[in-house]
Amino acid sequence: MKKIFLIGIGPGDPKYLTIQAIDAMNQVDVFFFLEKEGRGKDDLIKIRKSMMKKYATKKKYRVVSARDPERDVNAGPYEKAVDEWRNRRRDVVAGLIKSKMKENQTGAFLIWGDPSLYDGSIEILQSILAAGELRFDYEIVPGITSIQALAEKHRIPLNRTGEAIEITTGRRLNEKKEHDAENIVVLLDQASALKKFPDRSADLYWGGYLGTKDEILLSGKLADVVHDYDRLKTQARERKGWIMDTYILRKRKPVE
Ligand SMILES: C[S@@+](CC[C@H](N)C(=O)[O-])C[C@H]1O[C@@H](n2cnc3c(N)ncnc32)[C@H](O)[C@@H]1O
Repeated sequence: MKKIFLIGIGPGDPKYLTIQAIDAMNQVDVFFFLEKEGRGKDDLIKIRKSMMKKYATKKKYRVVSARDPERDVNAGPYEKAVDEWRNRRRDVVAGLIKSKMKENQTGAFLIWGDPSLYDGSIEILQSILAAGELRFDYEIVPGITSIQALAEKHRIPLNRTGEAIEITTGRRLNEKKEHDAENIVVLLDQASALKKFPDRSADLYWGGYLGTKDEILLSGKLADVVHDYDRLKTQARERKGWIMDTYILRKRKPVE
């Protein structure tokens, strides 16, 4: 039977690759790449390819690339647009597994960070199997997440003892007036929703391009650092054409 690995590779630094990831990479016959148009995404492909060159050394493999469908920003409500986009990605992935692997071969997708965090690949494989159109086995290899890299770089725990953590996206950050969790971790904030976050006394721990040569870190009380955040993010985006950044917002404890 065909087998697919979803291998978490961490958020950029090859040193984040686990021994489990390297073991899996060395079983692969076909590495699949979904390539996005422009926006510097080729930098992320280059990082993946250099990892393969250095660590997938025990077996001959092929690389098969396909165009990653773009999300249609004019395709109606957000959830509908995401569903429609997921379906197109799913068809591309099903096509690759069907036509680019022989029976008994092993294929892999190298997943940025960890496959379980804001990544649709697991659901895509499960939906292809549920539709009964293809038969294959699959295995998940966990990776270091961008959240762990952020905590590492700022040398902080994700929560102070006993506190809750909420993980959310920039799009959803300001939907609620009050957050129950003392710590909010935000990914996917392309539109800088952070600038409108109402609790200006919260502490911000921000990181851009974590684990890469372009890494930027910033921390401090939101009211004091929000302008620096905006400036650094704008400059970085202008310089590279794209940015990936993550942050933690931590409620200050009332002074006793
Ligand atoms: C689609 S999600 C994928 C998350 C990934 N699966 C993980 O485990 O980190 C992409 C978001 O992850 C965050 N991210 C991923 N890599 C990052 C990095 N090296 N530095 C900062 N943020 C990163 C950003 O918030 C980005 O918008």
